[in-house]
Amino acid sequence: MTPMDMLLSRASTDHLAEPAPNAAQLSDILAAAMRAPDHGKLRPWRYVVIEGDARPQMAERIVASMQRLDADAPEFKIEKRRNRFSTMPLILALGMHLRPENKIPLWEQEMAVAAATMNVLNALHATGFGGIWVSGDVVEDPVLAAEIGFPAPHKLAGFLFIGTPTNAPAAPRRPDPAAFTARWTGQPVTFAADKD
Ligand SMILES: Cc1cc2nc3c(=O)[nH]c(=O)nc-3n(C[C@H](O)[C@H](O)[C@H](O)COP(=O)(O)O)c2cc1C
Repeated sequence: MTPMDMLLSRASTDHLAEPAPNAAQLSDILAAAMRAPDHGKLRPWRYVVIEGDARPQMAERIVASMQRLDADAPEFKIEKRRNRFSTMPLILALGMHLRPENKIPLWEQEMAVAAATMNVLNALHATGFGGIWVSGDVVEDPVLAAEIGFPAPHKLAGFLFIGTPTNAPAAPRRPDPAAFTARWTGQPVTFAADKD
């Protein structure tokens, strides 16, 4: 596979089984995160590995967060979340070590975390693994973030579910990049993607 083939064939999947990357493989994969663009070299990305017996423990923290945010959270949603967090081969909590006082704006710090996460997804794919970035309301729960290791002003950017794809992900249809690209000639541009 050429590097472009690799980039263009990645797709998210939550149909994941063992094996997950071992410690050495995960270290290689996370090395790709360290190549993300990062204004000010703040390195705001943080990764918390959740595997084995830590998964059901994390699932209970997630459920508690859901109930904290919505006392009427439907049981089927709770059970779905509990099951996913208990059974995914490996979970990475994505932390954002944010510095509000820094001259680099917070949004740029958060984008560096997102760029690093994309590199992790690509590195997973390049090494035969797969994953999906998930969030949900709980990601904005400061209590959950602190329980994981990110007290304010630090935050969660979500979780990566990681493992070996159980089937080749169906190649989702991807939009034509031309619809998202314009050439500026002195006037404000418009995009085909924005026409109804
Ligand atoms: C910050 C962020 C949060 C996301 N949260 C969820 C989520 O909670 N549940 C979900 O199904 N997809 C979520 N997604 C979308 C998936 O990660 C994924 O991009 C989507 O399923 C499309 O798959 P693709 O990556 O192959 O295009 C999120 C994406 C981002 C960037």
